[in-house]
Amino acid sequence: MPEPSVLDHKPTAESQRIVTTDQVGSVQFQKCVIGDATLYCGDSRELLRAGVFGPCDALVTDPPYALQNRFGTMKTDKGTRRLQFDFDSKDATFEVVQSLRLCAEQVRNAAVIFCGTEQAGDVARTLRTSGMVAKHAVWVKPYPPPPGDGNWWPSAHENIVYAYRKGAFFGDDSKYRCNVFVCDNLRYGRAEKVAHPTQKPIELLKYLVRSVTPARGTVIDPYMGSGTTGVAALSLGHSFIGCEISPEFFEIACQRVELFYERGGAA
Ligand SMILES: C[S@@+](CC[C@H](N)C(=O)[O-])C[C@H]1O[C@@H](n2cnc3c(N)ncnc32)[C@H](O)[C@@H]1O
Repeated sequence: MPEPSVLDHKPTAESQRIVTTDQVGSVQFQKCVIGDATLYCGDSRELLRAGVFGPCDALVTDPPYALQNRFGTMKTDKGTRRLQFDFDSKDATFEVVQSLRLCAEQVRNAAVIFCGTEQAGDVARTLRTSGMVAKHAVWVKPYPPPPGDGNWWPSAHENIVYAYRKGAFFGDDSKYRCNVFVCDNLRYGRAEKVAHPTQKPIELLKYLVRSVTPARGTVIDPYMGSGTTGVAALSLGHSFIGCEISPEFFEIACQRVELFYERGGAA
């Protein structure tokens, strides 16, 4: 039987959305509660300034990287695809850092932030400002796309900053653990892939969320995209707060969370 696709499922009673339009001060936003997930459609900077989200145990997020070129190419067996990152801009770091500063103040345990290379220092400094110890890590993607014309070394890694409070819970007890996380990137055609150009692998997010979130904790992702962090957090028994500015990606995140509940809690 084919895997159910994110776009062709029917919600069950348990996965039914409770949708409201709320306002805090002058900030209006759409809020969607599905089981243990509370998903907001809006600008996370405004919602953070209005204090909408409240405290959480772990911040796990993947904000815009401030890329100079907001597109990339990816070769697949069906030809070359162009990936368009319309949500990014070369000036994004200033806004991302402002949001992370507000969000980090509410974090009780630890944070993991995917970053653009040139953002990583600013992000680490911001988390230190909130009283956390901040360090760098790398996600290695062992099978990068083949080099295109004029492309020297295709990128096979992404930067990560992680940070924790004194005495924080740490859930990775492997003797061989280190700050290089190896996990294959998602490709079009995989059952897990949805229509988001920078969707992260659920396996990697589960590993990161498990490492930084105490039992039955609350995980926040103020740049949730297609909701990968949310599905990872729910599958590990945590509750989730997510925010996405694009209504199209917000809808995909809601559908992924519904599908998670319909499958009886399988990520
Ligand atoms: C790198 S993507 C996250 C992808 C996600 N990790 C996934 O697996 O699908 C960053 C997301 O942040 C969203 N975004 C950008 N600025 C935002 C803002 N101010 N508030 C909320 N979301 C924002 C973008 O629309 C984009 O979907």
